[in-house]
Amino acid sequence: MAQKGILAFSGGLDTSVVVKYLQEEHDLDVITVTVDVGQGEDHKKVAAKAKKLGVKKHYNIDARKEFVERFIFPSIKANALYQKKYCLATALARPLIAEKVLDIAQKEKVTALAHGCSGKGNDQVRFDITLRSGSDLPIIAPIRDKNLDRTTELEFAKKHGIEIDTVAKRFSIDQNLWGRAIEGGILEDPYNEPPDDAFIWVKTKNLPEKPTYLEIKFANGIPVEVDGKKLDAVRLIEYVNKKAGQAGVGIVDHIEDRVVGIKSREVYETPAATCLIEAHTDLEKMVHTKHQNKFKSIIDDEWSYLVYSGLWQDPLKQDLDGFIESSQYAVTGTVKLKLFKGSVRVVGRKSKYSLYSHDVATYDAESTFDQRMANGFVKLWGMQSTEANKLQKKRPSKT
Ligand code: ARG
Repeated sequence: MAQKGILAFSGGLDTSVVVKYLQEEHDLDVITVTVDVGQGEDHKKVAAKAKKLGVKKHYNIDARKEFVERFIFPSIKANALYQKKYCLATALARPLIAEKVLDIAQKEKVTALAHGCSGKGNDQVRFDITLRSGSDLPIIAPIRDKNLDRTTELEFAKKHGIEIDTVAKRFSIDQNLWGRAIEGGILEDPYNEPPDDAFIWVKTKNLPEKPTYLEIKFANGIPVEVDGKKLDAVRLIEYVNKKAGQAGVGIVDHIEDRVVGIKSREVYETPAATCLIEAHTDLEKMVHTKHQNKFKSIIDDEWSYLVYSGLWQDPLKQDLDGFIESSQYAVTGTVKLKLFKGSVRVVGRKSKYSLYSHDVATYDAESTFDQRMANGFVKLWGMQSTEANKLQKKRPSKT
């Protein structure tokens, strides 16, 4: 009996090619696992594709709820944007997919783990590290091991009768509930504007002439209600994706530093992430002290960096989780967003834990803030700076 290998399978070009390689070059019986993290693929179609490729067994696991609760919600608490732009959609899903593969690997007593990642991207790092954190089995990564390029893969797919849809021929796509990443093809020239038809979540033409409002209620850092509707975790993200996408919000286009050092041009559609992170960040500013705000943005940046870099399992990431979690007790309140022709702006916020005081802040006569207190404060606050500046002026010039 042939030995068994297991593979996270999306039904796309890379993973379809890998199934054939595992069968033909490694003589393995292949078990495929599709983890539903909201990629919106018909799982019956994916299962049929796997069957057509001759896999021994195919699993479909609906992990959408777990994805939102264990991965997306913590990323909202961390205002997670890698290099201030990328909401980590793909990066957050990889450790979960790999965990599910490991569960089935154990059940099926496989002898090898496989993935369809290239040696150029970040996903290999995320998969390898999660797989190695939970297993000592060998990892086979044919695209990386054989240094395959997309053209060779497309030819290989054609030769083996593997069907590839037309979008996949133009771009490399990865999508889940939190975002849709579009790479490759004409986008590889960073000066080329992405064509409108690359986008399917965010409207780019005939946008509504009137603004759309989104009211998001947070409880302890987590969005719990939108527009007065209590929605479960998955439905909430879907609702915001749809509404913000219709208003043209959520396209991100930037140059990204990959883990392996390559600079890549990345285009994303992330309507829900754009809105929820914007709203969460704003609410934190209202309920946190200035010291918390300053320090937490450093923690948030580090959290995003670790998750992007495939280090979901690192103890430092867990330590940062502890800090972030403790900071969320007061992040309860409502934020109002105005969406208009692709832009998003916070136009209102309220919280029972608000540190904003109208009585103190107002410029009107009823202010309770005695301005005379400020004179001494400013003298002390600037004492060293003003002294140092005076001394610098006395220093002989270098020229
Ligand atoms: N650059 C993003 C990341 O590393 C997106 C990767 C998308 N993957 C893909 N196969 N298109 O998380």
